Amino acid sequence: MTLAKPRLTVIDTDPGIDDAIGILLALASPGFSIAGITTVAGNIGIETTMRNAGRLLAFANREDIPVFRGAAAPLSRVGPEPLNLHGEDGIGGVALPEPARLPESRHAVEWLADFLMEQPAGMVDVLALGPLTNLARLIVERPEAARRIGRIIAMGGAIHEHGNVGPRSEFNLWADPDAAAVAVASGLSLVLVPLDVTRRVRATREFVQTLAADGKPMAVMVGSLIESYFEAATNRESRPLHDPCVMLYAIAPELFRIEELRLSVDTGSGEMAGALTISPDGSPVQVALGVNGSEALDLLAQCLTAVSTNASIE
Ligand code: RIB
Ligand code: CA
Repeated sequence: MTLAKPRLTVIDTDPGIDDAIGILLALASPGFSIAGITTVAGNIGIETTMRNAGRLLAFANREDIPVFRGAAAPLSRVGPEPLNLHGEDGIGGVALPEPARLPESRHAVEWLADFLMEQPAGMVDVLALGPLTNLARLIVERPEAARRIGRIIAMGGAIHEHGNVGPRSEFNLWADPDAAAVAVASGLSLVLVPLDVTRRVRATREFVQTLAADGKPMAVMVGSLIESYFEAATNRESRPLHDPCVMLYAIAPELFRIEELRLSVDTGSGEMAGALTISPDGSPVQVALGVNGSEALDLLAQCLTAVSTNASIE
């Protein structure tokens, strides 16, 4: 299954093991024409998320894609401590080459705004895999550019699911609730992919073995990334593939059930920071509330094993 024709796409990300899987999935899928990767602090600091984005592109022999430094901290509060889940290098210690290309000198928000102004309106999608700080700054500082985004597909939030930071807070929205509130209230075309579905797309050790057995570089690398995810995790039966669900939705939306909900974001500083509330005066957002988890996982494997060779590691 592939998108009708390649969509101009920007990936905004805090790699992060699951971000890395999503990025490799997008690189392996002909439906995405990736114009750039904008990085944000989240799972780990900005220098490491930027380095990891470059390392993934070097591995995939796609250093034609530029990497941009984005927000090193949330809009107006202290950023989260690095998550142990992703290891000291933010990518589970998996062996990746160092990038030959340095990150661009322009700031992510400045580049994204200018890129959007250069492209026909509605032709660029943003896949958001981390805290929404860069997107919020774009919306506030360059609204005329933000309005030209085709759609934003963002991993974040929890609707009926318990949170993974607070009782109802999911990490990406909790890390920068003010940015999440700006994005939710923006009126832009936003599809939210919350824990309600990402926890149902779970990789098992058997899935890892399937990828490893395939032998193709992308499949083997994703198998290694998931394996490292197991090593750092408490629940060793399976691991939720949060960020790859954003790409999987873009590739095969029919695998997901979407509902429009009127949402608001808790921008307080207590344990509910970043929590989503459904209310009549909330902003309309398309939210993925259901997914065929096994077919989504099969699609991930199909996309990764269909990729023939990867020049940088032939
Ligand atoms: O809650 C899951 C999200 O937080 C994912 O994007 C993961 O990478 C972390 O950033
Ligand atoms: Ca992420």
